[in-house]
Amino acid sequence: MRQPSTNSPGNTPPSRGVMPTLPRSERCHDDGSPTLDVSARDHDSGSARGGSRNGVAHRGRTSRNCRMPRMLEVLLNESRGRGWAAGQGTLGQVKLDAAMLGWTEVPTRRGGPTVSTLRPVDPAEAEPNSLSARYGRGAQPLHTDGAHLPHPPDIVVLTCETTSTTPTRLWHRNNRVGRRAQGLPEFVRHGVFLISSGNDSFFAAACEGRRMRYDPGCMLPCDARARQVVQFFEERERFAEEHHWNESGQVLLIDNRRVLHARASAAHEPQREIQRLSFHLNHEAS
Ligand SMILES: [Fe+2]
Repeated sequence: MRQPSTNSPGNTPPSRGVMPTLPRSERCHDDGSPTLDVSARDHDSGSARGGSRNGVAHRGRTSRNCRMPRMLEVLLNESRGRGWAAGQGTLGQVKLDAAMLGWTEVPTRRGGPTVSTLRPVDPAEAEPNSLSARYGRGAQPLHTDGAHLPHPPDIVVLTCETTSTTPTRLWHRNNRVGRRAQGLPEFVRHGVFLISSGNDSFFAAACEGRRMRYDPGCMLPCDARARQVVQFFEERERFAEEHHWNESGQVLLIDNRRVLHARASAAHEPQREIQRLSFHLNHEAS
């Protein structure tokens, strides 16, 4: 039985928790996220009018200085601690906000569309080398989206117009169990994987700098340390938190550099549909 979570980044229990969706309204004052300065950028045009960079101001401003920030801007700020954040919005709103913020849409498959509709499929229907080709409608393991790319997306945004009974699992590299930070062992930085990407295959580690890259569907361990990495991430799955798609119109922003995610088994929900957009951040936002 999975236990509810406090959803505090420093207080993750040793079992999967339930992450509620935060209301979008009035966040700039109520939930501890940075106060956003209305004077910094016009909400509708996105044009800079002076003030603080990226619209992020110091705490303590009055409500007269607080504009309603763009939805993605709020979620990105909220994600800085634990690596993901959820809110309400539409796919169109995500695309518009991203464009106004200067984020670049990137496909997670070469030559593919930037918006993907994710549906549970059997291995025979799945894209070659995809997780669905290996796991079908069953539970998928923790992974990075676009791990086969030289530069995987910085941010992945998932939206669901309706609801889904299949949660998305999330695990942050600085995940804590009780008061103890788990962190990443050294072998995660040193194990060598062959990243299978057709003619563009290359070698890489599962963590380089502050960026993680891991997908057992396209990364083949080449040495003993890489095999330790595979085992390590398999074991970390039990510490993942869960996002439940229990309200229509939810948006889940995932920092694809610091968080691994997974889909629980969708064998019971063949009609599940999630829209996915992936981005590279502009220099200021990253
Ligand atoms: Fe994914």
